[in-house]
Amino acid sequence: MPPNSKFSDVDFSNLPIEHLTPDLNVTGQGFRCIRGEFATYWRKGRIQREVNARISHCWILRCEDDLAGYITLLTDKLEVDEPILIDEGVQYQTFPAIKIGLLAVDRRAKGAGRRLLEWAVEYIAENIAPHVGVRFITVDALYDSDTTPAYDASGFYKKFGFQFVDAEESLPPSVPYRTMYLDLKPLLDALSIQI
Ligand SMILES: CC(C)(COP(=O)(O)OP(=O)(O)OC[C@H]1O[C@@H](n2cnc3c(N)ncnc32)[C@H](O)[C@@H]1OP(=O)(O)O)[C@@H](O)C(=O)NCCC(=O)NCCS
Repeated sequence: MPPNSKFSDVDFSNLPIEHLTPDLNVTGQGFRCIRGEFATYWRKGRIQREVNARISHCWILRCEDDLAGYITLLTDKLEVDEPILIDEGVQYQTFPAIKIGLLAVDRRAKGAGRRLLEWAVEYIAENIAPHVGVRFITVDALYDSDTTPAYDASGFYKKFGFQFVDAEESLPPSVPYRTMYLDLKPLLDALSIQI
């Protein structure tokens, strides 16, 4: 099989997402990401160290021994300038959230990003929100102005309904990312998640 067709014809929408546990030995050899640092994070053990330190959990998508993508989740707080839940009688500007820490897919694994992100949203809504207060999912969407054109991951998250914390932010941002959030309430209501 030629190298660029490693994941050809794979329908990621039906593949299981697996929790990265110590017994799950996935080397990530051959994992190629459009952003090389995300392959390095895996191979040099950054993800495993974060998991071992219990500061994040990681889930993976794979085809047999080939890593197609990974996502990490951790707790966070969303901070906004305006009280965005004022219509619900909530005056706060800081809210509980779950953060997508790292998300990366093999560049040959078309659709793997969608699968991991949609899985994460559903997982948080169904498994975390029923037990602890969590209204939002946050992400620091990578923005790299050193490439031409600039690399901007925010377009991916926008497709799934994420909004910018600072929609007026001038580009390039002062930090190499743009913070975004997704409001889980419509999904929680649709799933009839009990209060
Ligand atoms: C961002 C990333 C995870 C997206 O994964 P992917 O597998 O390419 O995404 P999918 O193929 O599932 O694409 C889903 C949709 O998002 C779109 N999309 C993907 N990346 C996009 C981007 N940077 N800007 C705008 N749209 C994007 C796709 O075109 C597709 O649209 P469609 O459904 O209308 O066809 C992947 O490009 C990646 O690993 N990037 C490097 C690491 C990274 O930037 N991670 C995010 C850090 S916060």
